[in-house]
Amino acid sequence: MVRKMPVDRLTDDDVREILTEYRKIALVGASPKPERDANRVMHYLLEKGYEVYPVNPRYEEVLRRKCYPSVLDIPDDVEIVDLFVRPEFTMDYVEQAIKKGAKVVWFQFNTYNRDAFKRAKEAGLAAVAHRCIKKEHERLL
Ligand code: COA
Repeated sequence: MVRKMPVDRLTDDDVREILTEYRKIALVGASPKPERDANRVMHYLLEKGYEVYPVNPRYEEVLRRKCYPSVLDIPDDVEIVDLFVRPEFTMDYVEQAIKKGAKVVWFQFNTYNRDAFKRAKEAGLAAVAHRCIKKEHERLL
């Protein structure tokens, strides 16, 4: 049987390596509302020992962690920028990810923007698309 290639062309080994090697995550579109997937996923990542920096200009704090207006305001290195914003907002955050020296941009479900995805890849970052970081962690680790 021929396995369909995922849009991001990453294999399970690639994704596993990303989730093992990189521990510092900027979670963009962070929300204190428990009904938001961004909230549930952030909770999960913290539980699994990742350093998670919430990013959303609307909030000062999310899940008791200081929340930053942009990726560039985070006072630490960032390895993965995990996107929970509508596709039209992703390009700005990809530019921030590039400037910040992040290694991976992760497009959660319903956030994919082809130009932003392409921009991340052309700048040399790994780009993950149409996947959930929590589901992939549960599946692969
Ligand atoms: N920068 C940062 N945060 C922003 C933002 C921006 N430019 N624009 C909006 N947000 C925040 C909002 O504050 C909001 O949080 P709040 O309700 O606490 O204020 C949140 O992002 C979502 O806002 P909105 O644009 O209204 O979202 P929506 O209801 O249209 O949903 C997504 C869009 C992308 C957030 C939603 O489809 C999603 O969560 N996708 C990911 C799904 C997923 O992968 N789930 C995991 C399954 S395991």
